[in-house]
Amino acid sequence: MILSHPLMHNNFTKGDVDSVITLLKDKKLKLTQSKNVMNFEKKWSKWLGVKYSVFVNSGSSANLLTMSILKILYKKNEIIVPTLTWVSDINSVIQNGFKPVFVDINPRNLCMSEEDIKKKVNKKTLAVFLSHIQGFNGLTDSLIKFLKKKKVILIEDVCESHGATFNNKKLGTFGLISNFSFYYAHHMSTIEGGMVCTNNKKIYQLARMLRSHGMARESNDSNFEKKMINKYPNLSPKFIFLYPAYNFRNNEIGAVIGLNQLKSLNKNNNQRKKNFRLFLTLLDKNKYRTNFDVKGSCNYAFPLILRKPDFKLRKILEKTLIKKRIEFRRGNAGGGNQLRQPYLKPYLNNVNFRKYKEVEHIHYFGYYIGNYPSITNNKIREICKILNSI
Ligand SMILES: Cc1ncc(COP(=O)(O)O)c(C=O)c1O
Repeated sequence: MILSHPLMHNNFTKGDVDSVITLLKDKKLKLTQSKNVMNFEKKWSKWLGVKYSVFVNSGSSANLLTMSILKILYKKNEIIVPTLTWVSDINSVIQNGFKPVFVDINPRNLCMSEEDIKKKVNKKTLAVFLSHIQGFNGLTDSLIKFLKKKKVILIEDVCESHGATFNNKKLGTFGLISNFSFYYAHHMSTIEGGMVCTNNKKIYQLARMLRSHGMARESNDSNFEKKMINKYPNLSPKFIFLYPAYNFRNNEIGAVIGLNQLKSLNKNNNQRKKNFRLFLTLLDKNKYRTNFDVKGSCNYAFPLILRKPDFKLRKILEKTLIKKRIEFRRGNAGGGNQLRQPYLKPYLNNVNFRKYKEVEHIHYFGYYIGNYPSITNNKIREICKILNSI
C-alpha cells in the first residue's frame, strides 16, 4: 500500500482563515504591526510564563536580534553553540562578530553535550546558545548550576520545542532570552514568524527597538524616549536611530493567526506526545534508536535514527520512504553536522570530525518524519510496519 505521510499536515485551520477574514472586515483596518501584535505578545508571554515577548517575522530574526542584544550589552566574545541546530543559530553568532565554539551532542536528546560544554567554557565565554532539538529538553540542573557559577549567560532556542518542559516549567523560561519560530513546520504557525522572550525589562526595550530600525520611539518606555529626545535635541524626535538594526516586524495577519493557533496549542501538543509514545513502542529497537530522554519532551517530528552506521541500510530506508511517500529529512535538525556546511569554511580550520562522533552519526544516519496531531493510531501502526520491514 502507498501511504502519504507529509512532515506537517493541516497546520493552518478554518479558524485561522476566519480570524483573518474578521480582521480584513474591520472598518478601522490596519495590517502593519498594531494592537493584535501587542495582544499576541501578551497572550504568548502568559502562555509561556515570561514577562515580555516581542513578535518578529521569523525564528531566524529572533536569533539574530538576540545575538545583537548580547553584542550591545556585553564585551566577551565566545559563544558556545551546538553542532546540530538550525543554520541561523550559528550565522547569527558570526554576523555579530562572536566566535562560535562548537560542541558535540547528547544522543539521548540530540541537544548539546553537557560534558562538552563544561570542557569548553573559559574566561572568554559569554554565553551558551542552547537549542532544544526537535521537542527534546536540553537542560539539566547541573548545567544550569554550572553556568551560573561560571557567570555564563544561557540563551535558549526553543524554535523546535514549544510546550516542552524541564522540571515542569516550560522551556524558554530558563535563559536570559529565549527564541521561538512559528514557521509552518513547527508546533504552531503564523505563516512565518518568531518571538523573542525575556523577563528583563532592558532587554525587552532593546528587542523592541532593534526589531524596528533601532528607533528610540519603538521603546515603549516613555521616560527613556524623553531622555533620548533631550539628549539629541538636533534630531527629529520621531527619528532617533540608536543602534544599527533591522526591520524584523511582523504584522496583524500573523498576529491574529497566532492568537487563534495558541488556543489549540496545548491540545495539539498532548496529541503529539501520545503519537510519539506510540511510535516509540512500535518501532523495531534493533534497527532504530528508541532510548530517547523523553521526560518533558513535546516533539513536532519523530526522530528516526538508525542504530548502526550502515550505508546499505540507509539506502534501503530512503528508497522505502520515497516509495511509500513518507516525507523525511536526513540529518535531523538543520541537515546534520553544521561543521560540514560550506558557509562555515572560512571560520574553521582543520576540524577533527572524530571529536564530534554523536553528531556525525546523526549527520549520516539520522532522519525525521512528521508527528502532527491529526495522524491516526492506525496510520502510525502502518508507518512503523513499513519502517520495521527494511
Ligand atoms: C532550532 C531552530 N532555530 C531557528 C530556526 C529558524 O526559524 P525560522 O524558520 O522561523 O526562521 C529554526 C527553523 O526551523 C530552528 O529549527
